[in-house]
Amino acid sequence: MTIKTMALLDILHFPDPRLRLKAVPVVTVDADVRAIVSDMLETMYDALGIGLAATQVNIQQQIIVIDVSSEKDAPICLINPVIRTLEGSEEMQEGCLSVPGYFENVTRAERIVVEALDENGAKQEIAADELLAVCIQHEMDHLEGKLFVDYLSPLKRQRIKKKLEKTPSSKSPSNDDSHSSAS
Ligand code: NI
Repeated sequence: MTIKTMALLDILHFPDPRLRLKAVPVVTVDADVRAIVSDMLETMYDALGIGLAATQVNIQQQIIVIDVSSEKDAPICLINPVIRTLEGSEEMQEGCLSVPGYFENVTRAERIVVEALDENGAKQEIAADELLAVCIQHEMDHLEGKLFVDYLSPLKRQRIKKKLEKTPSSKSPSNDDSHSSAS
C-alpha cells in the first residue's frame, strides 16, 4: 500500500511583508528542490492558479511553476530564470493567488525568451508569447518581491490592500472563475 502525501503549502496574501522578500538562486537542483517543486504544483492546481512562485509560499528560492494549458497537464518548472529577450508590449488582465479576488490590466512585454533550469537541473530555453509570456514575467516579479498591484495606481493598490486586510485568509474569495486566471 502506498500513501500519497499531500503537501499543500500556505499561500501568502498581500500585504504580507514576506511577499517583498527577494529569492536567491538555487545552488543545486536536488531531491529537496524537486520536493518543493512537487508541493508547489499541487498547491497551484489546488488553488486553480496558472502559476506560482516560491516566494508566495514563503520559500525564498528562485523556483517557479506554471501551467497555462486548459487541460492542466502541461506543467513547466523554471529554476533560476533569466530573461534573455523582451519584445513588444501587451496589456492583459492579471490575477494573483496572493491577491485573491482582484483582476486588473497590466502592460508587459509581448514576447520573451527566458533561460532557466528544469526540475532535473537541465538548462532550458523557452520562447513564450501571450498568456505564457505574461505569466512568466508575473512569476519572475514575485521572486524579486514585486506584485502585479505595484503596476496599479497607488489609490487602487491602497483600496485592494485595505479590503484584503479585512479578509481573513481562510475566507478569501475563490479564484474559481472560468475566464480569469490567477498566478
Ligand atoms: Ni502572482
